[in-house]
Amino acid sequence: MSKFSVLSQLQWKGSNKTYAVPWLRNRIEFSADPERVKEYVKGGGFTRSQLTRDMLTRFHLSNNSIVVSDDAHANVLRKLFRDKAPDRDSYPRIARELVDELIASAETLPSSNSHSLSVSSSLIRENYLSILRNLLGADLSPELVDAIRDTKFHPGTRPVHLEGVMFAFGLQLPGFAPMRKVVDLLFFKGEHYTRNIAQKFEKLVCKHASPKPGSWYATLLTLRQNKALTEAQYKGEITSMLVSSFSLSAAMSSLLLCIAARSEYLEKIRTDQNMARYFVSEVLRLYPPFRRFGYEEKGIWTRKPRDKESATDFMVSVADLHRHEGVWTDPEQFRPERFAVPRAASGCKYMPFGLGPRSCIGQLYSMQMMIEMLKYITSENFGYKFTLPYDYAGDAEGLPIGISGRLISFPVDDRILVEKVIQVSATQQADPQSHCEFA
Ligand code: HEM
Repeated sequence: MSKFSVLSQLQWKGSNKTYAVPWLRNRIEFSADPERVKEYVKGGGFTRSQLTRDMLTRFHLSNNSIVVSDDAHANVLRKLFRDKAPDRDSYPRIARELVDELIASAETLPSSNSHSLSVSSSLIRENYLSILRNLLGADLSPELVDAIRDTKFHPGTRPVHLEGVMFAFGLQLPGFAPMRKVVDLLFFKGEHYTRNIAQKFEKLVCKHASPKPGSWYATLLTLRQNKALTEAQYKGEITSMLVSSFSLSAAMSSLLLCIAARSEYLEKIRTDQNMARYFVSEVLRLYPPFRRFGYEEKGIWTRKPRDKESATDFMVSVADLHRHEGVWTDPEQFRPERFAVPRAASGCKYMPFGLGPRSCIGQLYSMQMMIEMLKYITSENFGYKFTLPYDYAGDAEGLPIGISGRLISFPVDDRILVEKVIQVSATQQADPQSHCEFA
């Protein structure tokens, strides 16, 4: 009898779990094992899983963009995208502009002099503008900028487990769309709203953004003109800029909360030129925006008694891999210095941006933006201080806040306090009361 027969529905493989339930279309394997991850990184036999494609498609409608397309199509576009990131020298400026806009959007608290910022929504808006300008390479009309600035971006997606159940029962198929809409309107208003604004901005960007010469946007337009991309594929790439803003904003939200909680790192980041990179890497280890994502491994098991060849949905549990006791020392501790050790992240145990042939094409942009953002907000002449609006003693897990179990994981509580620090002269320093004032 097959190893994955109806009788062995649930299996344990060390720290991993493998499910082969009769009504599931595929066997599902959850893995946090670097050795298993190595097999898929070697390539061959794996492709983006249908479950992951379905989740992404429903989240942001880019059912034709790189991330949800087959390997052949993705590879052509990945090669064309390769040289489209901004020059290295321009990242400090882009990150500074983003932070300045973020601070400008902070709200003054009624009975206090501090400003409160719910970072996630503001970051999505500012990253979206920044990604459209600097990664898509578009000049934006004032109407489009105003429309983006006036929109509240809701960071939610349906819980991943619910997506899994829907997939398993086939409820993601088009015939169930009306039912899903009713469920969304009743229970997941935020998700419904996100899809509506994704649709709205797809149209607005196509109408109100013009391509800079040599940009990714210009390349996409040429491909569409030459019929190398269909209209749907072209629009899919435009829309995927919005979901990219969500991933980067989730990471930046965790980054801001971590630095607000750990003032002891301000000086270390100023004096050690590598510390900003270590700090960002540690944030992405403990709080990866994509906690899990999946691949499909074709035809490696047969389901008795039907003897039909089927696939394995190989779900890498990045969050578990990054906190795996067997591969990381003190995995629950927030310790950026661990990345100072050569090859600290090697061996397929660290993959916030994925690994292998379908890894994230926005990795360079995202890392540079986060590093430069951190350097800017920790620099001596920044002029603001970020703190958390609650007491944080540094709990054993090293968590400033929780993380929700969604496709893209945003901090559950994303508030930070922003205080303006007035630079003082030597004589004023004698009076410590005057040192810190609020805007
Ligand atoms: C901190 C921010 C980000 C994180 C953590 C992140 C993470 C990821 C992950 C985990 C994957 C799947 C990789 C895999 O399957 O092996 C991915 C794919 C992808 N990401 Fe990102 N991402 C981020 C930002 C961005 C940005 C800014 C862009 C903008 C271009 C982007 C574009 C893509 C694309 C197009 C893919 C699909 C690649 C393919 O299927 O071949 N990402 N990202």
